[in-house]
Amino acid sequence: LHDLTVARKTEQMRVDFIANASHELRTPLAILVGSIETLLGPASGDVKAQARFLDIMQAQSSRMSHLIDDLLSLSQIEMEEHTRPSKQVNLNELLDSVTHMLTSKAADLGKRIDLDLSLDPITVIGEPDQLFQVFTNLTDNALKYGREQTSVAVKLKLLGNDVHVSIADQGEGISPEHLPRLTERFYRVDTNRSREIGGTGLGLAIVKHIVSRHRGQLEIDSVVGKGSIFTVKLPKI
Ligand SMILES: Nc1ncnc2c1ncn2[C@@H]1O[C@H](COP(=O)(O)OP(=O)(O)OP(=O)(O)O)[C@@H](O)[C@H]1O
Ligand SMILES: [Mg+2]
Repeated sequence: LHDLTVARKTEQMRVDFIANASHELRTPLAILVGSIETLLGPASGDVKAQARFLDIMQAQSSRMSHLIDDLLSLSQIEMEEHTRPSKQVNLNELLDSVTHMLTSKAADLGKRIDLDLSLDPITVIGEPDQLFQVFTNLTDNALKYGREQTSVAVKLKLLGNDVHVSIADQGEGISPEHLPRLTERFYRVDTNRSREIGGTGLGLAIVKHIVSRHRGQLEIDSVVGKGSIFTVKLPKI
């Protein structure tokens, strides 16, 4: 009986996943199709309208390509889930490059990233590209969901046999009933709002898979109205 329940649940998840992915792709596609029709029809002689519709088309195609990149990442990660990563990764350098990459995005959003690294370099066994994606996704969320004119704190610490990387924002926070579902694919606290600011709800699902491949843990602490702290714990070499 137990096995059957598990099998049903897995099947239901697969069905939901395909339905969600198709829906998320269909929305921008519908906007593209509509824009093309407008460009060919009513807007065919209107240079200003053409520029406006091309902007819309650019935004929607980049949304589709972001979604497809994330879907490909997920399937890649699932294929590799049972092979252990084996490279040495210097987390000081990795976090430095994540921060660098997101500095201009932070500035565009009116925010800052404060990087607090331990003095001595900390190294873990991992897959550098995947760990880069973990910290990029978490920092990206902190920037997206943080209040304006606030900063995101990225910290690296050694605690006993664990390496802790924490990413803290000063944002709206997440109420406790959402926490258990946050890493599910396509799960968003406020679907419309996330979609508006460019989120499909795959970022944390990717983070969870990668962290578990690294035999680590993801911990989420959040206070509504104050902010959230996402901590990745990885075993020290
Ligand atoms: N730092 C945060 N503060 C408040 N809410 C958050 C934070 N990080 C994530 N969330 C909530 O969790 C949801 C899932 O996050 P996730 O990163 O998986 O998706 P996303 O950011 O919406 O889209 P994507 O990462 O795929 O572009 C978000 O939609 C948001 O509601
Ligand atoms: Mg995200």
